[in-house]
Amino acid sequence: MIKTAVIGATGLVGQKIIRELVDHPWFKITNLVASEKSKGLVLGEFMPDLASGENGSLEVISTEDFAPHKADLIFSALDSSRAGEIELAYARTTPVISTTSAWRRDPFTPLLLCGVNYNHIPLLRVQQKKYNLRGFIAPKPNCTSCGLVLSLKPIYEKFGLKKVEMTSLQALSGAGTRPGISGLEIIDNILPYIPGEEEKVVKEPIKILGELTKEGIQEAAFNISATCLRVPVIDGHLLSIAIETKEPTTTKEIKEAIKKFNSTNDLKNLPEAPEELLFVTEDLNRPQPRQDRNRGRAMTVTIGRLRAQREPSVHFKYLALTPNTGIGAGGGAVLNASYLVKHFLKWNL
Ligand SMILES: NC(=O)c1ccc[n+]([C@@H]2O[C@H](COP(=O)([O-])OP(=O)(O)OC[C@H]3O[C@@H](n4cnc5c(N)ncnc54)[C@H](OP(=O)(O)O)[C@@H]3O)[C@@H](O)[C@H]2O)c1
Repeated sequence: MIKTAVIGATGLVGQKIIRELVDHPWFKITNLVASEKSKGLVLGEFMPDLASGENGSLEVISTEDFAPHKADLIFSALDSSRAGEIELAYARTTPVISTTSAWRRDPFTPLLLCGVNYNHIPLLRVQQKKYNLRGFIAPKPNCTSCGLVLSLKPIYEKFGLKKVEMTSLQALSGAGTRPGISGLEIIDNILPYIPGEEEKVVKEPIKILGELTKEGIQEAAFNISATCLRVPVIDGHLLSIAIETKEPTTTKEIKEAIKKFNSTNDLKNLPEAPEELLFVTEDLNRPQPRQDRNRGRAMTVTIGRLRAQREPSVHFKYLALTPNTGIGAGGGAVLNASYLVKHFLKWNL
């Protein structure tokens, strides 16, 4: 079994990663790490349903006390403001799979999204050389970017894209728990601004859908604009997306492209790969966060209300429901790890 450490283990995403790892056929949790104030907590105290399991009495240590070379693989779900230097220090000896934003914009670092750009993984060799690492840092995208890019990928490949406009209705879980959003702020309300979010959603997709060249990643050439709102939903981000394609097409052809994408991605035989990365619903009253956030064990993005005013057209609108803590965070990170272990690190499983 591969010895894994979870950094930021006590947080919302850290706990999601732990849930993915407890029954994982390849990974075994050997270290739980968080801030100084969580030192000494045992897993069963903050995840009571796991108290009687194999890891129930595993104790949390601080980032300062953790010796990264003792783990084969590290999952980082730290607060992003602290993650940059800690992930770099750990990557000196050990591969780091990250959910944080610290390294996403680094030109020598791929931003890995399952089913979309695992062909960018060779850039990790450049990163290792550039920063003198025996491990590496492999970040995944922002939770909203995950659902947006997954829904765009089959369309971009088949018909090209000129323009994307997105408005997101983002759930409370996306803000984490330290300190999170207060009840008084969000109940009976919508917050019109999420600090830093729109910049991420504009920048990350063109990197992920870009092309890996000898000079690094050449960004995809289309424009994105984004408005990100916080809404009083617990989990599951709903995205309202309008696109302009390069080639005229129809809703039927877009659905066929999505079907093909589902059946031809490179996730075969990975433990947490969903049957479908994208699910298209014909129900006009879907997707809804409560109904669709756990589709495919929270690893499937649900697309609905795909429409055009006339067809064929270059203008389409649709909704996409992203499980932000599943494929958008913990689940997506563990799937990236499985792929890297099998196809890049080529460890014996
Ligand atoms: N929530 C989402 O949907 C989502 C989606 C995609 C990406 N992300 C990213 O994933 C990361 C974790 O998010 P989250 O929602 O799980 O946040 P969270 O609930 O606020 O948890 C933050 C974690 O970081 C730890 N931490 C904070 N300051 C630290 C320090 N100085 N030293 C060591 N550990 C420290 C906390 O430990 P203590 O308990 O000891 O304070 C906690 O375990 C963030 O970078 C976030 O941007 C989140």
